[in-house]
Amino acid sequence: MTNTQKRNVTWQQSTISLDNHASLKGHRGGVIWLTGLSGSGKSTLASELGKRLFSHHIHTFILDGDNLRHGLNSDLGFSQTDRKENIRRLGEVAKLFVDAGLVVIVAAISPFRIDRDQARSLFPADRFFEVFLSCSLRVCEQRDPKGLYKKARADEITDFTGITSPYEKPIDPEVIVKTDELTIDETVDTIWRKVVLRAFVAEG
Ligand code: ADX
Repeated sequence: MTNTQKRNVTWQQSTISLDNHASLKGHRGGVIWLTGLSGSGKSTLASELGKRLFSHHIHTFILDGDNLRHGLNSDLGFSQTDRKENIRRLGEVAKLFVDAGLVVIVAAISPFRIDRDQARSLFPADRFFEVFLSCSLRVCEQRDPKGLYKKARADEITDFTGITSPYEKPIDPEVIVKTDELTIDETVDTIWRKVVLRAFVAEG
């Protein structure tokens, strides 16, 4: 949009507030943003965490980078510019779900700090939680669940995170889980204690 066009578009205020949503649902909304290398366990963790939240009657939605690339983000590749746009869209979609009162679990490599920080800036400080899945490249490459590291080493994939494209570790994430040392249950427990109990269920 040009600046003139922007001036002609007004924000339509919602009549139902976040507090209204929270009291109807019995919990608050927010974002748990999982970042880490391919193979670090983001999708598995998102799924297990989602199940735990569901069993406690907490309404969730998982935004998985891979899945969104089949639809909304199917026009994007893996250049730095495309990844920036990918993360921008994930952040904006997460915001819509949070406005509807849900706990959104984002599972995306999101390799660049500046893009994760941009997503963070869309939310109040107590509604966005960056969780770094710390896992050595060696272990991710051993796991290679989709066979992509093998292809990247064989030069069949370009711009592959950790091999031919950088991953910038978070500097001060809310939570770090060492997924090459902890079991999946222990990882879910950690996020439960450090994020869910404090931010989503503790206070109505
Ligand atoms: S992100 O970097 O833009 O955040 P996103 O999480 O959406 O990436 O997608 C990463 C997924 O795309 C990986 O899990 C993997 O299955 C697939 N993929 C395909 N090509 C690449 C690549 N060059 N680098 C990283 N992941 C890739």
